[in-house]
Amino acid sequence: MLFDVASLPAIPYRLRMAFKESPLRALSWEAFRAMDAEAKAPLLNLNGRPYHALIAQQFDRPMLDRIGDLATKMRKIAKTRGGMKFLQDLLSEKRAMLYFAQPSTRTFLSFSAACQILGIQTAEVRDAHTSSEIKGESQEDSVRTFSSYFDMIVMRHPQGGFAERIAWMLSGTDRPVPVINAGSGKDQHPTQALLDIYTLQRSLEKRRGGLEGAKIAFVGDLLRGRTVRSLSLLLRHYAGVKQYFVAPESLQIGADILDKLAASGVEVEVTADFDAVLPEVDALYMTRIQDEWDQAGESRAIDTSRYYLRADHLQVLKPDAIIMHPLPRRHEIAPEVDADPRAKYWRQVRNGMWVRAVLIAMIFDRDREIDRYYEDLMS
Ligand code: NCD
Repeated sequence: MLFDVASLPAIPYRLRMAFKESPLRALSWEAFRAMDAEAKAPLLNLNGRPYHALIAQQFDRPMLDRIGDLATKMRKIAKTRGGMKFLQDLLSEKRAMLYFAQPSTRTFLSFSAACQILGIQTAEVRDAHTSSEIKGESQEDSVRTFSSYFDMIVMRHPQGGFAERIAWMLSGTDRPVPVINAGSGKDQHPTQALLDIYTLQRSLEKRRGGLEGAKIAFVGDLLRGRTVRSLSLLLRHYAGVKQYFVAPESLQIGADILDKLAASGVEVEVTADFDAVLPEVDALYMTRIQDEWDQAGESRAIDTSRYYLRADHLQVLKPDAIIMHPLPRRHEIAPEVDADPRAKYWRQVRNGMWVRAVLIAMIFDRDREIDRYYEDLMS
């Protein structure tokens, strides 16, 4: 006998068969779109795991804890040659399409590296204009066509809600595939928020015993920065966290986010005074001005010079605080800050790769194999 049939994974299409029971398949686009994000969440998840990963609201606290636990295990497993071989076999029968219709190198490479860790083959669409879209094909038809070659789509798109639309559309077909939102317009960036939570948890665990009760300040373009919007929503799962939104008035956080935080009883401070907030916080989350969304260069009229972390600010920042940034950086943090042990933005990047690999393993229901490997060989 060439191979032992019993050792093969059970039924290859188990996941798809399970998803075919999803009530999402029966919903019209209008009905799905009109739903509250909280109501959408259970339609996107399957058995406590994400199937599509589209919005921060679909991740509850047990899922966040699970992702963190798995990321830590996976990092340790990947340190050995045997462990890396195990990981590279975990999803080696899968192919992923990285569909990035918006400039990206960081997030693109992060997903690409995450797929490599798991043995997933990838192909990319970076410029939708080189495809048949110029022949008049709709973007939806293009994605549906491309999806036939793949088992998963990672999608970044300038239009908020586009990834959701594609996930809904594919969900209704005979061959649904999971869709991961890698940044949608000015709206959400859920995988960045997952890696931010992991970074916050790990760093604050050592410094102050955890994320609960921490004071976290978001600084910069909060109106158009999607990473802040997603992270702010996830932080609702941590008791007693106070969120500060520090920005010039015209770039302040959207009322929709403030309403959601208020409804969850989160303590919030909205201010333009960066210097006053600095000594109070346990985590500082700096962001750049998102002027690619300008209609006519309006960002240039806004004085953002106050929202800059200088080296001398480090003296007023708590000794056990941390500094984060989703990157790319422009003029938000002086380069001299990089050497300070509180600077965690390079760590965030590395964490992102592991968290994304974990998310993909969870989507395909292979996460328990990681536990098993860890328990058998590592502990
Ligand atoms: C962010 C994004 O694309 O929203 N970048 C990223 O994914 N790390 C932040 C930004 O572009 O400012």
